[in-house]
Amino acid sequence: MSQPRGEIEKRGLWSSGLMFILAAAGSAIGLGNVWRFPYITGTYGGGAFVIFYLGCVLVVGYPLLVTEVVIGRSARKNPVGAFKTLSRENKFWTLVGFLGILSGFVILSYYSVIAGWTLDYFVKFVTNDFAGKGRDEIISAFNQMISDPARQLTWHSIFMGATIGIVIFGIKEGLERWIEILMPLLFLSLLILLVYGLVRGDAVGALRFLFEPDWKKLVLTKSGEFTPRPMMEAMGQAFFSLSLGMGAMITYGSYLGDEVRISRASAMIVFLDTLIALVAGIAIYTILFANKLAPAQGPGLTFKVLPLAFVQMGGVGRVLAICFFLLLAFAALTSAISLLEVVTAFFIDDLKLSRRWATLLGGVGIYLLGIFSALSYNLLKGVHIFRDKDGNPMPVLDSLDLLATNYLLPIGGFFIAFFLGWFMDKVEKKRQFLEGKGSERLYKIWHFLIRYITPVLVFILLVFEIDKHLGLGIFE
Ligand code: PHE
Repeated sequence: MSQPRGEIEKRGLWSSGLMFILAAAGSAIGLGNVWRFPYITGTYGGGAFVIFYLGCVLVVGYPLLVTEVVIGRSARKNPVGAFKTLSRENKFWTLVGFLGILSGFVILSYYSVIAGWTLDYFVKFVTNDFAGKGRDEIISAFNQMISDPARQLTWHSIFMGATIGIVIFGIKEGLERWIEILMPLLFLSLLILLVYGLVRGDAVGALRFLFEPDWKKLVLTKSGEFTPRPMMEAMGQAFFSLSLGMGAMITYGSYLGDEVRISRASAMIVFLDTLIALVAGIAIYTILFANKLAPAQGPGLTFKVLPLAFVQMGGVGRVLAICFFLLLAFAALTSAISLLEVVTAFFIDDLKLSRRWATLLGGVGIYLLGIFSALSYNLLKGVHIFRDKDGNPMPVLDSLDLLATNYLLPIGGFFIAFFLGWFMDKVEKKRQFLEGKGSERLYKIWHFLIRYITPVLVFILLVFEIDKHLGLGIFE
């Protein structure tokens, strides 16, 4: 697979291993850490869910991240092109690449709506909307916001517009430099919230909720029946948070220089992503319990709870809130770019479109699909697609999120692992792993996991989930 250095450079390369880590961390760190992780942890009862999630990150997430980067750097193509090349034009594997494009399409459509919420809260704090308001008013501001269709559509349009603009004009490179400054600032503002929460909030309550396992909650519905859904959600969250299963990391790996040690770069990304999710989670739950709220707040959790702390902090809190929501919107933007980039790269390579038309076609299509999500808590309130683990119907946005994280990403991830473990050229994958002084022993462990453990675990959970929740009833 080795291509001449000049060719590779023409296609584009990260200026250093560090730039790759920053860009990949920019894709990984986003709403998944600050919005999704805290809220689904609340939905599934904390403790056992968090521990199972951390296990999934180690056994499924990390090995798969290494796998995607190995595939990307080896093929130096977008996911569809990569599978086409590495499988020598096999139709089936090319289809797996397509599945990734579809996931990117679905995820970005609702991701943009949530990102819009952060912009709305940014403006709320700029205009000092919460001044003098009490707990219940602050919390109900969330429901007011999502039940306003015009407002939802406006923010969705603005966020998708920004994402499309950046991907079209290729000012991505400039933006990546900002990651270096803005990501640490986001982290810093989360740390301030964490310290505030630990000191002024209910630290014991939060830590017990997040780390004290009650294993029943991981496998049973409210009425005491077996359900694979919480385990599936934990695994899906590992995929979502690390941007795995759809080829985003294949794409980013395709720009990675040959001298970088993939196992180490990937470990950094996993560490940062998990750290930020945990910090956000602990901060939010200290404040939540101090305000005597229930963890199962649904997708609004972060937006209901954090403003409570910001308002309680007074004037400093307002400044911190303005910075925080802006930084979060930026983190969402760097993730959104990676989602749109996968779709765009595919249209460029395979439909032979120019970058401008490829981005517009993908971006506008995603925008249109996103309208359903923007309207899902107002005009489309009565429309439901999937059901949750207790059988309650779910709105459009929640359903699309479930479809992507519980089905599309894990199915994609399964095939990606399966491909590398069983079909990819042995010499090539080993060469990629060992490049930059990779360890032989770690290679053996990784290869064992990706061959026998990762795909098997994903497969088993998928079969149970599909059986139980799509109603096949094989195991009844
Ligand atoms: N990882 C991103 C986040 O946590 C979301 C994402 C998923 C980005 C899949 C790209 C691919 O916000």
